[in-house]
Amino acid sequence: MRLHVVDHPLVAHKLTTLRDQRTDSPTFRRLADELVTLLAYEATRDVRTEVVDIETPVAATTGVKLARPRPLVVPILRAGLGMLDGMVRLLPTAEVGFLGMIRNEETLQASTYATRMPEDLSGRQVYVLDPMLATGGTLVAAIRELIKRGAEEVTAVVLLAAPEGVEIMERELAGTPVKVVTAAVDDHLNEHGYIVPGLGDAGDRLYG
Ligand code: PRP
Repeated sequence: MRLHVVDHPLVAHKLTTLRDQRTDSPTFRRLADELVTLLAYEATRDVRTEVVDIETPVAATTGVKLARPRPLVVPILRAGLGMLDGMVRLLPTAEVGFLGMIRNEETLQASTYATRMPEDLSGRQVYVLDPMLATGGTLVAAIRELIKRGAEEVTAVVLLAAPEGVEIMERELAGTPVKVVTAAVDDHLNEHGYIVPGLGDAGDRLYG
């Protein structure tokens, strides 16, 4: 697994405002959307392209277009939905699938309550969206499902990660073609499974 922490002043600025408990829901939604677009720029660095011939008004030349099959974007409901628009702004031709997952707040175990995506993901590049990588249970289960369906490469775009979650992903997904792109890796997880200092419960701050 590869980890990429995006080091950019605009990312740091937006993340700081997201963390601030005084930031209200409408502002949180807008900033999460803007931050995802910045992360998406980095996350799509390896998106597959193919060479095409075109003609400008002046001359014939070659360029690149996104290769087929189209990338698949999978937000993890509920909080990942707040990242979808920001992602497809950069990948408007992507196909979109959905995974509904919830973490039991006592056991911290993740379970899946809804799945709507292609059965066969052979040869596909997949971008999975979830604001928080906390214990890692949610993303490990989601990515295993995507790999089981044949995904060739999976990139998880997360706003914030805990070192514990990164470690679990490295262990559980060793040897799989997985990349995590995040705005920051925080200090630690607390006893309730919250990222510290974190930004609170992203789902609640977006939709609660
Ligand atoms: C939160 C968050 C992640 C998950 C992270 O979702 O949005 O999906 O927990 O935790 P983990 O890394 O420890 O598995 P939650 O279960 O609160 O659902 P929601 O998105 O519907 O609010």
